[in-house]
Amino acid sequence: LDNGLALKPTMGWLHWERFMCNIDCNTDPNNCISENLYMQMADVMVSAGWKEVGYEYVCIDDCWPSHQRDDKGRLQADPKRFPRGIKKLADYVHSKGLKLGIYADLGTETCGGFPGSLGYYDIDAQTFADWGVDLLKFDGCYMKLTLLGEGYTNMSIALNKTGRGIVYSCEWPLYEWPLHQPDYSAIRKACNHWRNSEDVFDSWNSVKTILEWTADHQDIIVPVAGPGGWNDPDMLVIGNFGLSHDQQESQMALWAIMAAPLLMSNDLRDICPRSKELLQNKRIIAINQDPIGKQGYRTAKVNNFEVWEKPLSGGRLALAVMNKYEIGGPRGFPVTLATLPSWKICTPQCNVTQVLPSYKELGVQTLFTKLIVAINPSGTALLTVTPIKGDNNIQWQ
Ligand code: DGJ
Repeated sequence: LDNGLALKPTMGWLHWERFMCNIDCNTDPNNCISENLYMQMADVMVSAGWKEVGYEYVCIDDCWPSHQRDDKGRLQADPKRFPRGIKKLADYVHSKGLKLGIYADLGTETCGGFPGSLGYYDIDAQTFADWGVDLLKFDGCYMKLTLLGEGYTNMSIALNKTGRGIVYSCEWPLYEWPLHQPDYSAIRKACNHWRNSEDVFDSWNSVKTILEWTADHQDIIVPVAGPGGWNDPDMLVIGNFGLSHDQQESQMALWAIMAAPLLMSNDLRDICPRSKELLQNKRIIAINQDPIGKQGYRTAKVNNFEVWEKPLSGGRLALAVMNKYEIGGPRGFPVTLATLPSWKICTPQCNVTQVLPSYKELGVQTLFTKLIVAINPSGTALLTVTPIKGDNNIQWQ
């Protein structure tokens, strides 16, 4: 969507995977969907270094509104859980130098059974703008499939009419796939990012399924991604319960390669130091946020390894090699022309940096040096490759 926003993949936090539709503030006041949750996340995002590395949007998902619209037909937040209302929450988040995201649904109800926006697109867009909202996640439950395109496009127009810069996060293709292949150029025109595949769960199986879906459809979805419009493989679940550390590294590496929005769904108030360090790894974030905004793709499946590559600015390349075995120990992957055709950029030589599993300068390599990286089961090695041109040797001196 050409609204000047999301020129790099959106970074932030979104409540859904970790906090779901927990509205029971009596028994679980610390984890229920309430203004406190977002204020606390905003506080930690600033105090614990998240904002500094680029995480900016604090996003509300389903289950925030009251079941009734107000007398002017406007959505309103649940008065018990958001006693000060969304505008005050937005002010608070903005005072921290962060941005606020909200959630609505283009059908008659949200997936969680709260009021839908069908028939209210202009009113709701204006309400969000008046509150100072910076991002809208627009879900697609309770809507006739044949009307998805019209609905998502009309909300895009409604948001634009408000004159406020609001990142527009769609789920249009996810709901349209069962009907037919979505029109990705129309989606890119209307949305800043769009969910293609099923909801992420806190498990390696879920992450693998999303990666498999993405690779299977890469010829259709990779070419449309770029500054202003991104494929969204759903939230990062790093720092929760279901992934081993190697699997967390795999999710982080592959989300970077896919130029995916980096929306964490975890509890930033209580996160293990290793997960935090991984999510805040500046080298990985730089791969995700590279200014040319090219989405990477799977280039090879060899010997139960998967190779994914992402072109970076300056003719550089990011390379992820995932060990698909879930048995045994670390296995060595030989980086050669045979396993990796784009290794040819190392003519006559290139500089290789290992970003994951640990940072290591692997030095100058040629087409013929033997570089072997060791990768744990369900883990990933992430490398950057910088070609050194022949005559550049002179230029650099
Ligand atoms: C379905 C979406 O895909 C999820 O990300 C989440 O927003 C839920 N709906 C909320 O009900």
